[in-house]
Amino acid sequence: MAVDILKISKDAVEASKIYPDVINASIGMFYDEDKKIGGMPIVSKAIRNLPDEDIFPYPAVDGGAQFKKNLITWVFGPYEENLKTHFFINACATPGGSGAIASTFSIFSKPGESIFVSDIRWQYERFADRAKLNVFEHALFDGDAFNITSFENRLDELCKNQHRVIVIINDPCHNPTGFTLSEHEFDRILDILNRKKKNDIVFLYDLAYLEFSHETNNRKKLSMLPKLDQHVTTILAFSGSKTFGVYGLRLGAAIVMTKDEERTKKIHMQYINEARGSWSATPTASIELFNKFSIADNKKAFLVDLDRINTLVQKRSVSFITQAKAIGLKTHPFRSGFYTVVLTKDPDQDYLKLAEHHIYAVPMNGGVRFALCSLSLKEIEGLPQKIKSILNL
Ligand SMILES: Cc1ncc(COP(=O)(O)O)c(C=O)c1O
Repeated sequence: MAVDILKISKDAVEASKIYPDVINASIGMFYDEDKKIGGMPIVSKAIRNLPDEDIFPYPAVDGGAQFKKNLITWVFGPYEENLKTHFFINACATPGGSGAIASTFSIFSKPGESIFVSDIRWQYERFADRAKLNVFEHALFDGDAFNITSFENRLDELCKNQHRVIVIINDPCHNPTGFTLSEHEFDRILDILNRKKKNDIVFLYDLAYLEFSHETNNRKKLSMLPKLDQHVTTILAFSGSKTFGVYGLRLGAAIVMTKDEERTKKIHMQYINEARGSWSATPTASIELFNKFSIADNKKAFLVDLDRINTLVQKRSVSFITQAKAIGLKTHPFRSGFYTVVLTKDPDQDYLKLAEHHIYAVPMNGGVRFALCSLSLKEIEGLPQKIKSILNL
């Protein structure tokens, strides 16, 4: 069973009531430099100004036509028209990206099967446990690059024993490492998926941190999807929690993309069924908040706030990584995003040692993850040195 991140965060909050020096780097929520949540004032204001009819009624289970249209325009950006000519696309609102992941596992797998994930990853096993699935891993890194050989070889192995395989790619700003695939790496991944012609591949592309990537064009990789063949079903897991910083509101979506109209229709119905049989419907307020920010002027204003926090998140990460490098503290290859992982020998013991010194972070395969998005620049100053000293690294 994976470690409970929400519990570590709660412990940190409790400790901070007693000790003034607590550093809570456990959870992926943006806090501003004054340690306040709600770093995007325009979002807070929009939530408070929602009229009753945008909050109280039941919504359409999939979010409704307007929401789906807005979502597709938002996520695909300049590639919307092109993607629409290559794919039959539909979507279903979900309570966070988590809802999209959980329902995808439920729809596309049978108990006892395995999902295909990297050895360093976010807590996909929580969703897998619930769906009674196993995890089948490939190595994420080969030095500072994506380990394409391991990805291919391990997928080969799994595809020999299992017809339908859910392949999860978390990109950009991979949680927990902050790694982002290059366009070339992404292209090679698509080629490998295309080669699995005898299998039924479900490509679950978890782009929760899409807006926090510092690539020149953060949607360019989406424009490469049309090369995927018929046997690959693509599901994009969108997170409104991360996009708008509304973690508790529960906003997300599963976007279905296939090359067969009937198949997309059928899968869309399966998501609706999944929703009705579990969470019922995504909160109306979340759906309407998204619709509000899809109006051109509102979106423009939102992007100003987003840019401000995005720049700050990157500044924090760069500060941490620069200090770490200077003192020889090793991290996984980092490009951008909410987190970075410090490599340690015994993560399960090391995070407890850090907690004894009031530093709260999360153990991961190969190291301890620090959510730099929630720390101020002041807290980050000197933090790598403290970690190095406490853990004798
Ligand atoms: C990689 C990744 N995917 C998906 C999610 C889901 O987020 P939410 O359910 O809050 O939208 C998270 C949240 O931390 C995440 O880190």
